[in-house]
Amino acid sequence: MSRSAHPAGPRHADVLTEGHYSAPPADLNALDPKVWARTVSRDEDGVLTVGGRTVTGLAEEFGTPAYILDEADFRARARAWRTAFGTDADVFYAGKAFLSRAVVRWLDEEGLNLDVCSGGELATALSAGMDPARIAFHGNNKSVEEITRAVEAGVGRIVLDSFQEIARVAHIAQGLGKRQKAQIRITVGVEAHTHEFIATAHEDQKFGIPLAGGQAAEAVRRALTLDGLELIGIHSHIGSQIFDMSGFEVAAHRVVGLLKDIRDEHGVELPEIDLGGGLGIAYTSADDPREPHEIAKALTEIVTRECEAARLRVPRISVEPGRAIVGPTAFTLYEVGTVKPLESLRTYVSVDGGMSDNIRTALYDAEYSVALVSRTSDAEPMLTRVVGKHCESGDIVVKDAFLPADLAPGDLIAVPATGAYCRSMASNYNHVLRPPVVAVGDGEARVIVRRETEEDLLRLDVG
Ligand code: LLP
Repeated sequence: MSRSAHPAGPRHADVLTEGHYSAPPADLNALDPKVWARTVSRDEDGVLTVGGRTVTGLAEEFGTPAYILDEADFRARARAWRTAFGTDADVFYAGKAFLSRAVVRWLDEEGLNLDVCSGGELATALSAGMDPARIAFHGNNKSVEEITRAVEAGVGRIVLDSFQEIARVAHIAQGLGKRQKAQIRITVGVEAHTHEFIATAHEDQKFGIPLAGGQAAEAVRRALTLDGLELIGIHSHIGSQIFDMSGFEVAAHRVVGLLKDIRDEHGVELPEIDLGGGLGIAYTSADDPREPHEIAKALTEIVTRECEAARLRVPRISVEPGRAIVGPTAFTLYEVGTVKPLESLRTYVSVDGGMSDNIRTALYDAEYSVALVSRTSDAEPMLTRVVGKHCESGDIVVKDAFLPADLAPGDLIAVPATGAYCRSMASNYNHVLRPPVVAVGDGEARVIVRRETEEDLLRLDVG
């Protein structure tokens, strides 16, 4: 997943068949700003601080494991996307990356819109007071109840994902006496350079309607005839954790090609195009993500160029970044429980969470960084694997990590860049309780999603 380099490792490379580790960093105490939230630094005692709070203080007050989120960083990244795209475009934060009512309010205040993809995400957004007109509703199998609720609430757009859904949404909207604004999600046939499970623009997968074979054109034909729908644009999302802009270039070229065909066939110029999300972030120092202003410039130029060539009015562009906004803003704080050196292999460091709070390593072979954060250390680097407390050997948080050789139970370690798709994909495996999300800023900390309790678990178990 990450593009971190995999050069030959140290001594035991021959016995370590699965790992991808590089040489130990020159300074184990250094915190690479690329992977840590913006307000992170160490205080004079070597303790990591974020938003003016020490991790030792946060651990004492809120316990571990915990996701610690830098609110100023979240707002700054959201604002940077908003500013980069300007007022002629829309930025929809992809709520699937991480959604809570506090997040909805921050987005609202920073002028972003919101992409939701389930009734639960829609309910969260509405309960936090988000203007429904600024919500886009996604999903490849929205239920009749979900669609009804979205149309009744007045969501700004529904992104249609199949022929059946085109008919279904039109029917529901018409029944409610409404004309629902909608986009059609198409697959443009791009192979995004990312993990198979999060690449979404090739044709052999569940999302969207293929451009190939005229299927997307047929979907447009149908949507334009239905009274319950107002077709406002075409949507394409090519995948996630992408660094290379060439996939977006091909996607924009093909989407604009469809807009041109629609103009030629129906005499209609659809006013919007959505290029989805998927921009990569740094999980390790080897990753080099682009800044929002570079992305905005590149995407706007591509679309403008393609439209000029096709003699089309430039449509309003929208994008849906999730990971690129929230990913870097949080880290997971763990307490070390056991340190188990395996002779001539490596040292296994067990923490008080694991695959229930971060499934990404097990699911996508994702790479992460990790640091000792409750103190600094001058001890030699040791090759470790940071693992969780679950009954499964694949319960790995950081596959290959160098930590100081004097690491001991009770130390706090932190895994940066866990703001996206960690809490939102968390589970109760082994009845482990999901950690809280604690927002910090200006010396204050507050829980925005509380820690699960045994009562929460037992409440669902009706006996
Ligand atoms: N728009 C659409 C239609 C999407 O399906 C997604 C992500 C996004 C936007 C936001 O993508 P982002 O900018 O966050 O990459 N669980 C996986 C990621 C799945 C993404 C699904 N869709 C992971 O942990 O990497």
